[in-house]
Amino acid sequence: MSERGPSGADEIIFDMSPKKKSEYSVPKLKDFSAVALEKAAKDFLSALATESKAAGSEAEWKIFRDRWMARANGLLTQINESWLKAAPKDAKRAAGQCVNELKAKVEEIVGATSERILNQAHSKGRPVGRAKTRDSASDPHGGESPGDRIDITLPGIRRPIGAEHPVIRTSREMVAIFQRLGYSVAEGPVVETDYYNFESLNFPPNHPARDTQDTLFIAGQESKPLRDRLLLRTHTSPVQIRTMQKMKPPVRVVCPGKVHRNDALDATHSPIFHQIEGLAVDTNITFSDLKGTLDHAMKAMFGSSVKTRFYPSFFPFTEPSADVQISCIFCDGKGVRDGAPCRNCKASGWIELLGCGMVDPNVYGFVDYDASKVSGFAFGMGVERIAILKYGVDDIQLFFQGDVRFLEQFG
Ligand code: DAH
Repeated sequence: MSERGPSGADEIIFDMSPKKKSEYSVPKLKDFSAVALEKAAKDFLSALATESKAAGSEAEWKIFRDRWMARANGLLTQINESWLKAAPKDAKRAAGQCVNELKAKVEEIVGATSERILNQAHSKGRPVGRAKTRDSASDPHGGESPGDRIDITLPGIRRPIGAEHPVIRTSREMVAIFQRLGYSVAEGPVVETDYYNFESLNFPPNHPARDTQDTLFIAGQESKPLRDRLLLRTHTSPVQIRTMQKMKPPVRVVCPGKVHRNDALDATHSPIFHQIEGLAVDTNITFSDLKGTLDHAMKAMFGSSVKTRFYPSFFPFTEPSADVQISCIFCDGKGVRDGAPCRNCKASGWIELLGCGMVDPNVYGFVDYDASKVSGFAFGMGVERIAILKYGVDDIQLFFQGDVRFLEQFG
């Protein structure tokens, strides 16, 4: 024998409650005590939350917004009339406060609901909103019913604006520092030839220095002479060469852009990243000019108390070459922070940030500059590395994952 549960058919016949749960309506208050007001406000807010959740499209959101906020007879107007205006003198203050709080809450929830719906539409790749076309000729009201009229006091749809990506922002900031020193900006191709990426920068074929840049080669290039084979540029230095081929000294240029290396992903490495290259060639440019320029740029980027130090290094296209370190911005160069060894600089007080040097005379040979008349310096820096330090980011992958929760913090 089957048993009838509480929702059995017999019970439904005698169930006199309406089929659809009725919509919330603002009660007239007889009792204006704090307890009664609180209870009324609670019901009001729970209806607001339920209806916000139920709105799933822009059209539904508009109905929801109008129901709560329309000046004519929205629920906010109603509580103003029947809770505030109707309140006896001694309850006015409390009723006013309650209505004000509810008003702020309605505005907040209506705004947040619109944002949620827009985001949903974006993530589904659907266009948001559709223009309404009216056939006014066949409509005796000229296409406008009273409920259709525009209430300009209602809030519009909040469209979230994007934020500049932290890597691009950092790159622009650094480029701007050099622009203020009189540098112009040049760009070059991301898919480069072996000639520009290596040979003209004084990396001879089969030279071990090529191994320091794990290169991603474009497939199917073997039939071409080595210098014409394509690869993803491993640094922005080829833009130096392209610039010098186009113009005679004096040259002052910065070259921001994307580069690639065949590196495995980890917290500090990414096969795709960005660099900014710099080049200055003129008569009588010295290593002191290089030091002064980079010291200024690092202070402009990280603050005037930052110090720089240069120590010998090797790059095929500069001689002499140097690596540049800045004093640790986390421990002020002390190597100790909050009584513990500073993790950011491994307690050394210094952080390595860029490579630089005096342009090797061999390089001038590739671009028809007279090495006996001109001299110059060059430098290159990684943009992500700078952004990591500047914004305290602990994983380079965050820059490339497109997670809005990370990116919107830069808005
Ligand atoms: N191209 C180098 C790299 O990616 C960085 C660099 C070092 C650029 C020294 C320069 C320079 O212009 O002079 O490792």
